[in-house]
Amino acid sequence: MINQKMQDAINNQIQAELYSAYLYLSMSAYCDNKNLRGFAHWMKLQYQEETSHAMKLIDYLQERGGVVQLKAIEAPPTEFGTPLQVFEQTLAHEEHVTSLINKLYETALNEKDYAAQIFLQWFINEQVEEEASATAIVERLKIIGDKSTGAILYLDKELGKRA
Ligand code: FEO
Repeated sequence: MINQKMQDAINNQIQAELYSAYLYLSMSAYCDNKNLRGFAHWMKLQYQEETSHAMKLIDYLQERGGVVQLKAIEAPPTEFGTPLQVFEQTLAHEEHVTSLINKLYETALNEKDYAAQIFLQWFINEQVEEEASATAIVERLKIIGDKSTGAILYLDKELGKRA
């Protein structure tokens, strides 16, 4: 059975993943309002991914005999600026989530919870991927710059292909 400290830490991470989902859903709606349908699609898939991260943690906590305690989720912003600013905020958020996952892993180390350490390795790898994909889009948007509408629309089409 999972101990109280680990249970509390995982419950906090469930909240953080659900906030991430909320944030990306809000970004998706924002992009859709700007007629950037591909950006909106990318963000909607990101929202779904975050809910799956939360579910993974919920299922794990249940499996370990823990108590899932859902917490209030803060309202995300509704304005995100230019496409570059949208993805800079995405990258900054993912870096923040990486630091939370690292702290969670540290708790598992301190608590000598070996099963949790193995379980959390998936999240550590996932964060590498999350940061890499956001960074790649930030870099492309920096090359494009905010004035090149044609290139933004081309990228919009590309992001719309995310499966
Ligand atoms: Fe669940 Fe994007 O980290």
